[in-house]
Amino acid sequence: MPKGLAILTSGGDSAGMNPAVKCAVEYASQKGYDVHLVYDGLRGLIEGNIVPSTRDLISGILHRGGTMLRSSRSPQFFDIEYRRQAYENLKARGIDKLIVIGGDGSFRALNQFYNDFGVPFAGIPATIDNDIAGTDYCLGVDTALNVIREAVDSIRDTASSFSRAFVIEVMGRHCGYLALTSALACGAEICLVPELQYNLDSIGARIKHDLASGRRYVLAVVAEGTKMGDYLTRWINDSIGMEARLTVLGHIQRGGSPTVHDRIMAYKFAVAAVDSLEAGQTNSIMVFRDGTYGHLPIQAVADAKYQIDASLLRLAAPLAS
Ligand code: F6P
Repeated sequence: MPKGLAILTSGGDSAGMNPAVKCAVEYASQKGYDVHLVYDGLRGLIEGNIVPSTRDLISGILHRGGTMLRSSRSPQFFDIEYRRQAYENLKARGIDKLIVIGGDGSFRALNQFYNDFGVPFAGIPATIDNDIAGTDYCLGVDTALNVIREAVDSIRDTASSFSRAFVIEVMGRHCGYLALTSALACGAEICLVPELQYNLDSIGARIKHDLASGRRYVLAVVAEGTKMGDYLTRWINDSIGMEARLTVLGHIQRGGSPTVHDRIMAYKFAVAAVDSLEAGQTNSIMVFRDGTYGHLPIQAVADAKYQIDASLLRLAAPLAS
C-alpha cells in the first residue's frame, strides 16, 4: 500500500528550494512513498493544485533559483474552513504526510494544520533571512550572500573611482545576519544591524579620521530591519561632508542559481525530512547546529528567537562604533 506524501514550498522563495524538492522526491520515492507536488504553496493546498510527481517535473531544476513549485503567502490558511478544504484535497489523493520547505511562518501554519487534522509534516528551513531559531543555516543564505558580495564588490569599483560613499541596504526582514556577514566579507567601513547598538557620533569621528589619513571612499552595509538606509545616506552627506549614494539591493538577493553549499545542504535537509517522517515524527523541523544535522520539535523553533552567533557580532561591532 503506497504511502502518500506531498511536498510544497512556502513563503519567500530562496535558492536551494529546487534541489531540496528534487532530492526529497527521489529519496521519498525510493522509500516507497507515492510523492505529490503542491504548486503555489499554502494557496495551492487550499485550491488543490496538487499533482503526482513525475521525472519530467523534477528534471532540470537543480541549478535554478527560486522554486519551480512556486510559492505564496496565504492569509486564507489562517481560516479553519480553508484549512479543511486543504485537508479534503489531501485526503482525496491519499496524502497523509507533508514536507514543507520555507520559513517559520510556514512551519507555524503547518503545525496548526497538524493540530486540526493530524497530518504530520517535516519542515526544511529555507529563507535568505537566516532567522529561524534552532538552526545555524537556512537554505538560500549562501547564494544570497554571494549575490550581495558580487554587488558590493561592483559598487566598490565605482565608489573608489569617484571617491564617494555608498550605503547598501540588504534584506533580512528583522534579522541582520545577511548585512553583518556581507559587511565583514566585503570589508565595509560601516555596518548597521538590529542586533548591534550603533553610535553615529563615534562612527563619524572614526570615518573623518580615516578620511584625513587618506581614505578615499566609504562602504556602509545596512540591514533593512534598521530602516536606516535613507537616514545614513543623508547623514554621511551632511555630517561627514562626503557625497553619498544609496543602493537598495532588493529582490535581486532572492534569485540566482543555488551555490554548491546550498545544493548540498538541500540534499541533507531533504533526506533528514523524509527520514523524520519515516521515523514517525509528526511536526519536526530539520536543523543544522554546530556542524551537526538534526531536528527539533516545532515548539522549540516557533517559540524561540534566532540569535546571531556572538563571535560574528563581536567581529562586526567595530563597524557600528
Ligand atoms: O523573507 C524573505 C524576504 O526577502 C525578506 O528579506 C524581505 O523583507 C521580504 O521577504 C520581502 O517580502 P516580499 O517578497 O513579499 O516583498
